[in-house]
Amino acid sequence: MHEYQIVDGDQTVLRDGTIKLHGPDGFDAMRKAGRLAAEILDACAELVRPGVTTGSIDDAVRGMMLDAGAVPATLGYRGYAHSSCISINHVICHGIPGDKVLKDGDILNIDVTPLVDGWHGDSSRMFYAGEPSLKAKKLVEVTYECLMLGIAAAQPGARLGDIGAAIEAHANQFRYGVVREFCGHGLGRLFHDAPEVVHAAKAGTGPELKPGMFFTIEPMINLGKPWAKVLGDGWTAVTRDKSLSAQFEHSIAITETGNEIFTKSPTGRDCPPYF
Ligand code: MF3
Ligand code: CO
Ligand code: CO
Repeated sequence: MHEYQIVDGDQTVLRDGTIKLHGPDGFDAMRKAGRLAAEILDACAELVRPGVTTGSIDDAVRGMMLDAGAVPATLGYRGYAHSSCISINHVICHGIPGDKVLKDGDILNIDVTPLVDGWHGDSSRMFYAGEPSLKAKKLVEVTYECLMLGIAAAQPGARLGDIGAAIEAHANQFRYGVVREFCGHGLGRLFHDAPEVVHAAKAGTGPELKPGMFFTIEPMINLGKPWAKVLGDGWTAVTRDKSLSAQFEHSIAITETGNEIFTKSPTGRDCPPYF
């Protein structure tokens, strides 16, 4: 059984396993947080090129959040000390920004979560440094399609498993691996809340999707096998077979008639190429 909890206004919410159902105040707050996440990722498109360090991009992300009166939700989160995650090539997710220099042909994910007035806008996109290989670009395109097919399946009255089923079916057509170890998640005033949104699932399973639910969909798709491992730094997740990996993430809501994407790019830069 799955428990739902109607939340409104300034109400304190706990990570108690309940699926929160939000009202108009929550929608307004998430539109603001999601919009800032999208604007920051739009700006990242101008920064990504060969020769740039991931640390300099992270500094720029932090600057944009602070300038907007927001706080990077990842800063200090479970000991994480950065304002973004930047995951290059065979890094699946949670890549740590630093001295690493981008080189021509790299594909990378930048994941940002500004905390705006106490609400989390969580989104990530892929970027190209220079000109990646055809097979790298194909992986990125199909991963974006996986996200959007997952979102299309996120309808009131549908089941959570319908999302993962749609994503997995599309990835399977290209013999790509869908990562199981990391999931989408409920969010709002909490960064990571119920439900856990798995990206490979059986249609018709899991809790019913109801208007007012807020969650992310963030499929990680590998060119090779789905298996992941976390490096000794405790964060960086990589493909076990060293194959390339791609990811896109949106924060969405279930509405009475369908869904709303809070983190859509206002300039149409939802997936590359951006120029
Ligand atoms: N933004 C990531 C997500 O999509 C979470 C990053 S947590 C961090 O859920 F600590 F690694 F930054
Ligand atoms: Co997320
Ligand atoms: Co994220």
